[in-house]
Amino acid sequence: MREKVVVLDCGGPNGQLAARKIRERNVYCEVYPYTAALDKIKEGGTKAVIFTGGAGNCNTKAVQERARELAGAGVPILYIVDDASEFAQQGQDVACMDASQLRDEKALGGLHQFLFDDCGLKGDWNMSSYSKESIQAIKEKVGDKKVLCALSGGVDSSVSAVMISKAIGKQLTCIFVDHGLLRKNEVEEVEGVFSKQYDLNFVRIDARERFYNKLKGVEDPEKKRKIIGEEFIRVFEEEAKRIGKVDFLAQGTIYPDVLESGIGGSAVIKSHHNVGGLPDVVDFEDIIEPLRLLFKDEVRRMGIELGIPEKLVMRQPFPGPGLAVRVVGEVTPEKVRIIQNADAIFREEVAKAGLDREYNQYFAALTNMRSVGVRGEERTYEYAVVLRAVLTTDFMTAEAAEVPWELLKKVTGRIVGEVEGVNRVMVDCTGKPPGTIELE
Ligand code: XMP
Repeated sequence: MREKVVVLDCGGPNGQLAARKIRERNVYCEVYPYTAALDKIKEGGTKAVIFTGGAGNCNTKAVQERARELAGAGVPILYIVDDASEFAQQGQDVACMDASQLRDEKALGGLHQFLFDDCGLKGDWNMSSYSKESIQAIKEKVGDKKVLCALSGGVDSSVSAVMISKAIGKQLTCIFVDHGLLRKNEVEEVEGVFSKQYDLNFVRIDARERFYNKLKGVEDPEKKRKIIGEEFIRVFEEEAKRIGKVDFLAQGTIYPDVLESGIGGSAVIKSHHNVGGLPDVVDFEDIIEPLRLLFKDEVRRMGIELGIPEKLVMRQPFPGPGLAVRVVGEVTPEKVRIIQNADAIFREEVAKAGLDREYNQYFAALTNMRSVGVRGEERTYEYAVVLRAVLTTDFMTAEAAEVPWELLKKVTGRIVGEVEGVNRVMVDCTGKPPGTIELE
């Protein structure tokens, strides 16, 4: 049986971080509010409990009472609090470490000692055993019923589709909507992997014309997003109607979504524009969420474990509305072609320079500006492409990466030389704030 540790969250951001650090030590861990029922906390033979929070909120009567119950049941306890010395002064005679240590890999000896010396854990949890367990659980839950999945080609939907496919094969249908706003060759890549490599029904819908028609003449960024979101739902709805009633709708909800939507409660359905709203238009009985207990890096490891090509699993974030938010102003097939080609060149050269893992997100976008240039004897009047590369951990704030000048020169030369309709390349040096990562 797998070893399990429970983090009891008394408030503050440390619960999630502690859970990640514990799992990185190959010990399975879940986060509950400290008010969770004792039976739930002890479920699955919990080997240890860790309270996390500020010194104040880990020292309330309710927390103390909970700790006494657990200690009485023989469960070892550790506190990870924001101000450990203040906590100690409050007369707490318990195992305790300062939460700042969670942010310093070298200072994590205390956690290691607690898990492996004090609690005698083995630390034998790994993705291989977890993937087997999860696939078995899906098999049992679904039985001989049917599952429908909206596949975007992104990491979460890809990994969750493959897990379900490994469990139930062709009882899974994946619908992949090609809205004409994906990166160069992306449609073929996704189709290649999912229609050939895995046992499932893969349905690709070519909705490019529909999306381009709807976007014709629309310049306002918010309107563009709204149109794409609504049209996506409509396309999916039509297809779902054809398929008829399904038993389960797959969702790529991951653990941070679950924790951030209120731990303990049920996860709100991910309000990602691509799938938000789907539950209303699909006739289904229940939701299935294979990634519900995994952090993002674990989802990627699961993907590798399941044999999904690294190119898909390690890919950088890509917005649901796709290239529409990277084409400033009106979207046309012509502009999409330009930016697909320019972006492919930029990404290829960044990868060649070995910098693809350095930047958290990098892409080319198309400004709405045309300017005068010269090619041979001819005067040109063409678009300007902008290159953007950012460094960020949470995507809420970001700084512009310092892309080497040599690389920029090479990319610029290739773009103006190879991409028809572009005579100028610029670099976006703006941080977030005040810029956003995407241009729209
Ligand atoms: P911004 O541009 O707001 O982007 O700084 C922050 C991060 O979110 C991604 N992004 C989106 N992702 N649907 C998504 O799934 C969207 O509508 C969307 N808009 C922005 C963006 O790529 C960046 O990683």
